[in-house]
Amino acid sequence: MNLYGLTNELVTLPTPYYLYDLDLLNQTLLVAKTAAKKYNIHVHYALKANHNDPLLKKIIATGFGADCVSGPEIEKALESGFSNDKILMAGVGKSDQEIAYALDANIACLNCESLEELQVIATIASSKKLIAPIALRINPDVASFTHQYITTGTEDDKFGIAINDLQVVLKYIQEQPSLNLIGLHFHIGSQISDNSVFDALCEQVNKINKWFINQGIQLPIINMGGGLSIDYLDPVKNSIANFDAHFSRLRNGLQISEIQQIHVELGRSIVGQCGNLVSKILYKKKTAKIEFLILDAGMTELIRPALYQAFHHIEPLEITDDKLPLHNYTVVGPICESSDTFGKDISLPLSERGDILVIRSAGAYGEVMSSNYNLRKKATIFYMENKKLLL
Ligand code: LLP
Repeated sequence: MNLYGLTNELVTLPTPYYLYDLDLLNQTLLVAKTAAKKYNIHVHYALKANHNDPLLKKIIATGFGADCVSGPEIEKALESGFSNDKILMAGVGKSDQEIAYALDANIACLNCESLEELQVIATIASSKKLIAPIALRINPDVASFTHQYITTGTEDDKFGIAINDLQVVLKYIQEQPSLNLIGLHFHIGSQISDNSVFDALCEQVNKINKWFINQGIQLPIINMGGGLSIDYLDPVKNSIANFDAHFSRLRNGLQISEIQQIHVELGRSIVGQCGNLVSKILYKKKTAKIEFLILDAGMTELIRPALYQAFHHIEPLEITDDKLPLHNYTVVGPICESSDTFGKDISLPLSERGDILVIRSAGAYGEVMSSNYNLRKKATIFYMENKKLLL
């Protein structure tokens, strides 16, 4: 018996491979959709977390919109079946071509991050005789207490328009017939595990929204971005993010009028737990102090531990007797750098060359951030649904 209650077929697949659990994705989407309906929240899926086709198909079927950060992501969203009126575009450095493409595709909104970007959008839109629907991404200067590389909402970060610049920006927009301001956008970081951060964000958003209302402007879209965390430590017990608590927090924390809608852009919390990276132990190596397990997957397949020192739960594919004595291993990949480490002091049953390990919670920012470094081939992708491997 293995982790997923499947027969031995998983052991025979060529490693390393990504294995997506579509049953878990279905359950996650149902929970997210139910909570979104309860609190009247508009969900956009952040394609950057994973744009794998079967996953996108299910997300589209749920009725969620798409949050894209590049021209090719918009193209992918359209090709996959998201309707253009549910597609948003974010990004601190949109190229002229990407802006032109987004306008031609008539997407719902471009989230803008600077006065200069607004000037470029206004020029391109006016040359096309179009009116660009825009939201202002505002940097609310709220710390998100997540990893420094994925913190985006403090004044030292490159993202968003500073609150102090709003007056000038608003005046510019009001003078531009080719710009139609429809919303405010915030995204202060990803994998935010201290939920009080969202309370602090709501407080800032309320102040900013009030400022706009005092200028006589009531914007229909209040987009609160992504950031909802998943449980990397115990993905089995907490396989679905707490959408209800998150949406309730936003609904209760925001002081907005009935004509203002709450939007969110969720990536990790939708797809994070349904992906697993499955890898074989190539070698076991003992040094004076450390016992290494050297896998056939590395930072080329999953860069998160190397880049953000991220923890991913690792366990054997085959379920063995729980009472076996556990050993402490440092689990590493085959790449020629020491950052290629999945985890230190990982407690596993006695493991040998040829055993297969599963690295959990790899559905978000895993496959999409993989590379061909060392000329390695991309991992194969497998899916399971209804407790069966889809081949
Ligand atoms: N909206 C915006 C504007 C974003 O920049 C992001 C993610 C999201 C939404 C989705 O956030 P989520 O729901 O996934 O937290 N590669 C890093 C994560 C980078 C997140 C970038 N922005 C990682 O592996 O942790």
